[in-house]
Amino acid sequence: MYQIRAVHIRGYPVLCAIPRRPPKDIILSGYLIPGGVAQVEFLTHVMGRNEKLFEDAEAFRPERWLRKRDGVPTDTAKAFSSIPFGFGTRMCIGRRIAELELHLLLARIVQQFEISYPPDAENVEPFVRGVTIPDRAVRAKFVDRQQLTV
Ligand code: HEM
Repeated sequence: MYQIRAVHIRGYPVLCAIPRRPPKDIILSGYLIPGGVAQVEFLTHVMGRNEKLFEDAEAFRPERWLRKRDGVPTDTAKAFSSIPFGFGTRMCIGRRIAELELHLLLARIVQQFEISYPPDAENVEPFVRGVTIPDRAVRAKFVDRQQLTV
C-alpha cells in the first residue's frame, strides 16, 4: 500500500555510522575499549530510531526539537541523541554550508513548484552505499505554480 513517509535526517542519516578509535583505553557503558586498536562506531541510524532516546521514534514530529512549547521547556530530545554531522574536532566541516544550501534550495523549489508523489509510485527505501541513498528512482512530480494559477 502507498504510504507517505517523512524522510528526515534523524531516521535517515546520510552517514549511518561515525567511527572513532580512542587513543587511550576507555570504559564505555561498562565495556573496556582498548586504546589505539579498537574502533567504536556511533550508529546514527540506530540512535535515531531508539525509543529510549526518542519517544514514538518512528513518528515525524519536528516539534520535538523545540526547546520550549507555550513557554514550557519540552526537553524531549536529549543532547547528543542525534549527531548527523558528527561531533568534536573531526565533525563535518561542511555542516553550515550544507544546512544553508538545503534551506535555500528547498525554499526556492517550494516557491516555484508544487511537489507531489504519484499515488501509483512504489515506496522508496533507504540503501546504504557509503552514504545513504534512495534504493530506486524517486518519482516526484513537479508542477510549475505559475501554470496552476492560469
Ligand atoms: C547533509 C549534508 C552532510 C552531512 C549529513 C554530513 C555528515 C558528515 C559526517 C557525519 C561526518 C563525520 C563527522 C565525524 O567524524 O564526527 C562528515 C565529515 C566531513 N564532511 Fe560532511 N556532511 C554533509 C555535507 C558536507 C559538505 C557540503 C561538505 C563540504 C563542503 C562536507 C565536508 C566534510 C569533511 C571535509 C569532513 C571530514 C572532516 C574531518 O575528518 O576532519 N560535508 N560529514
